[in-house]
Amino acid sequence: MNIFRTKSATPDDSCDSGLRRCLSAFDLTFLGIGAIIGTGIFVLTGIAAANQSGPAVVLSFVFAGIACTFAALAYAELASAVGGCGSAYGYSYAAFGEVIAWIIGWDLILEYAVSVAAVANGWSGYLNNALTAMNLALPEALTKAPQLGGIINLPASLIILVLMGLLAMGIRESARANIAMVFVKLLTIAVFIGVASFNVHPANWHPFMPYGWFSAGADGKPTGVLAGASIVFFAYVGFDAVSTAVEEAKNPKRDVPIGIIASLLICTLIYIVVSGLLTGIVPYTELNVASPVAHSLQLLGFNWASALIATGVIAGLTTVMLVLYYGLTRIIFAMSRDGLLSPILSVVHPKTQTPVRIIVICGVFMAIVAGLIPLGELAELVNIGTLAAFVLVCLGVIVLRIRQPHLPRPFKNPLNPLFPVLGMLSCGALMAFLPPLTWLRFLVWLLIGAIVYFAYSYRHSKLNPAPR
Ligand code: ALA
Repeated sequence: MNIFRTKSATPDDSCDSGLRRCLSAFDLTFLGIGAIIGTGIFVLTGIAAANQSGPAVVLSFVFAGIACTFAALAYAELASAVGGCGSAYGYSYAAFGEVIAWIIGWDLILEYAVSVAAVANGWSGYLNNALTAMNLALPEALTKAPQLGGIINLPASLIILVLMGLLAMGIRESARANIAMVFVKLLTIAVFIGVASFNVHPANWHPFMPYGWFSAGADGKPTGVLAGASIVFFAYVGFDAVSTAVEEAKNPKRDVPIGIIASLLICTLIYIVVSGLLTGIVPYTELNVASPVAHSLQLLGFNWASALIATGVIAGLTTVMLVLYYGLTRIIFAMSRDGLLSPILSVVHPKTQTPVRIIVICGVFMAIVAGLIPLGELAELVNIGTLAAFVLVCLGVIVLRIRQPHLPRPFKNPLNPLFPVLGMLSCGALMAFLPPLTWLRFLVWLLIGAIVYFAYSYRHSKLNPAPR
């Protein structure tokens, strides 16, 4: 059994699907911002400030941003050197062999699927906030997961089913539509920054670090700035989605690295400013709610700004879900095409030209998860899966430099292996700050992945020379 078998380790275009290469570095940067800015900043900032970091949530954003920057540099090098389809899965297959590619692909399925469910929860919170403002509030039983005292988070489930219908019908957001939605989102943030800047009460920043750097917390849940960083890391999830657009990029080896790094840097800057202002305008203890950014402006009496922001967030979160859902189907499609998942999945519907089976199976699964599991736990699960993938991507840079020292690398990390090593250490540290239960769930996911790989994927892989 050779689990290290690999595809050609040279840049390979075998996944070229004939899609039109029309995305520039600018489009890709906007695609990244479209996927990145969402529930993390609009919801989790409040939850992390109230429970883990206090006003020092701004430091949590800085730490998570640093870890992501190292990972983004690793992504950029691999995307420029290897290309490949299906995000990190695609180029890790070409570069490192099947088993690592499988682990990364399996991880990415967790990341993207659970992210969509988590963002749907954030979307539902803001929708409910808007409905309440119009005196049309839904009963609590229908807006909360069982663990939070409800029956089901119905809006979260329903929005996923609506997106499922859209994607299955073949309605793909064009780069132009995405840019328009990203502008709405940035405008929303500009309104918040504009109003909040004039209403900061520095007293709200004291105590700055009420929970310290790190401690176990009363209920055994980690707390402190570092635990906060491992939660708000979710806000950065999505920059890697740029790498799923390799097939549509005009000049992927140049533009994909630019798109990844530029979108991450812009978002990091925005997060630092927004989280600093949010904890400056109201006491952090007031922020443990489903729509903290809109709520904080309501507390200050700016109802018009609060309503405007709620509307912008509802629109903005929809694009996050669409891009991540789309990325998820791309990854499963690529894995199915390589024989690691059943070929039944990668059948494209003749009329809509979309992989309808993947879209429907993922949609139903994510709708159930979004309805029944609360946001915080979903975000932690996304984070551990994503961080593990980032550790492997960083390791991949080092391995590929050794195995293929002469491979042309249009984008190269300086001072190799310093940055990938720092990336592995910082992402690994953020994983360590996540709760034990999250680790258990993640290990169960990996175990299921190992069973699927050895029971099915190894034998059915396109690389398997033996008859299937
Ligand atoms: N980064 C994305 C968000 O915060 C997933 O919603």
